[in-house]
Amino acid sequence: MSINKEIKKVTTNTLQKMKAAGEKISMLTAYDFSFAKIIDGAGIDVLLVGDSASNVMAGHETTVPFTLENIIYHAQCVVRGIDRCLVVVDMPFGTYQSNSDIALASAIRIMKETGGHSVKMEGGEEILDSVKRIVAAGIPVMGHLGLTPQSIYKFGTYTVRAKEEDEANKLRRDAKLLEEAGCFAIVLEKIPAALAKEVSLSLSIPTIGIGAGADCDGQVLVMHDMLGINTEFKPRFLRQYLNIHELSSAAVKQYIRDVKEKSFPNEKEQY
Ligand code: KIV
Repeated sequence: MSINKEIKKVTTNTLQKMKAAGEKISMLTAYDFSFAKIIDGAGIDVLLVGDSASNVMAGHETTVPFTLENIIYHAQCVVRGIDRCLVVVDMPFGTYQSNSDIALASAIRIMKETGGHSVKMEGGEEILDSVKRIVAAGIPVMGHLGLTPQSIYKFGTYTVRAKEEDEANKLRRDAKLLEEAGCFAIVLEKIPAALAKEVSLSLSIPTIGIGAGADCDGQVLVMHDMLGINTEFKPRFLRQYLNIHELSSAAVKQYIRDVKEKSFPNEKEQY
């Protein structure tokens, strides 16, 4: 039987055991109570309250404007909807980059005010002191390397990262440093599959890939992309499982027709 089916609550230890057993880790984003309930009920291992909420929930072009208050609100909603999965909460841009005091205070607020189980932070060597202090405070940290959307204005584009040897070497080094600092897992976003495989094999903690190939220890997608709520975003790595956009639009058009034609509500739909 899979480790996933055996356990009542997924913890960071469960993920470690899954890596050791070669069982892949499933992770999706969620931002609200209702979808968190559906996704947790379906048996997901990890839910990420991602700062991609800045794009798909708030309509911002980047994740940069998202605030600590914003993520705390979404995480509170998600935590109310789950029973079993591990909840990871993104630390928004500006809540941890300045210094480790601010980083620790932000992580503590997230843990105390949301009921989430862990936090995620983008970056390697640059944020190591903060990662160590947050881990030392008893808060599990998930790392995030490769394409780190909070640094979009430094990169200038959302294209594949670490194709050049210098950047690949920095990523290899950063992954080791994050593992040594106590991270329980690392997201690898949009990097060559061969590099993701090498890094995954070199670490004892699990890697979770998005656009990083099949050899990561788990996979993550943004819920709005995989369910086809947001149909404008079509990167090569994305598999779209549903087209909620089309289904919802057709349903709303039918509702409008029914109201205009006075076929809704009918006799059974009134008191
Ligand atoms: O914010 C987010 O949704 C993420 C995932 C893409 C990993 O960081």
